[in-house]
Amino acid sequence: MKGIVFTEFLEMVEETFGLETVDYILYKSELKSKGVYTSVGTYDFFEMLSLISNLSEKVNMPVQDLIYAYGLYFFKVLHRQHPDIINYYNSPINLLESVENHIHVEVRKLYPGAELPTFKINRKDDKSIEMIYYSDRGLYMFAKALIEKTFEHYNKNAVVNYTLLKEDGTEVLFLISEKNGEQ
Ligand code: HEM
Repeated sequence: MKGIVFTEFLEMVEETFGLETVDYILYKSELKSKGVYTSVGTYDFFEMLSLISNLSEKVNMPVQDLIYAYGLYFFKVLHRQHPDIINYYNSPINLLESVENHIHVEVRKLYPGAELPTFKINRKDDKSIEMIYYSDRGLYMFAKALIEKTFEHYNKNAVVNYTLLKEDGTEVLFLISEKNGEQ
């Protein structure tokens, strides 16, 4: 997992829960990196799991809710770092349709060593799309948050339903429909 995912995660934890909580989870987690992350480095995903589960215990919130909250936060980071990629698309569904074969392809060039999910994408019509998420990391709530934020970015509403095709969340079907009316 890329360093930017760690540095921004710790930033969110600091903003939301304070520096003390950041220090606490760094101290409690088993970190080969010792908690020293640079945005261009690559670190073990196990470190993120460890940080999130210690945060979950500390602030008494479910892990999945924290992953979702981090996805909402991370969209802002992506937009700040890569406005050109996002602005290239004129609609949320066009952007989502291109995550697999354009966006994450560019991401691989920009972030060598990035561990990305695979999406199988089925565009139904101009208002709806199906995406099947595959990743050993099971970060489907992160995906859900990014999908919802994509619509918000274009001032659009959508209903995003998901079904776990594998219980551990490594395969998840998303059914996404844009709804009429501005947000
Ligand atoms: C400008 C648009 C985007 C950029 C630049 C981008 C970039 C990235 C980066 C840098 C990572 C971290 C890779 C790593 O830690 O090794 C990542 C992970 C991820 N991205 Fe994207 N992404 C974008 C849009 C999206 C969208 C719209 C979705 C959802 C449909 C998405 C789904 C994910 C998920 C779920 C992960 C977590 C890794 C996993 O589940 O295995 N991304 N992306």
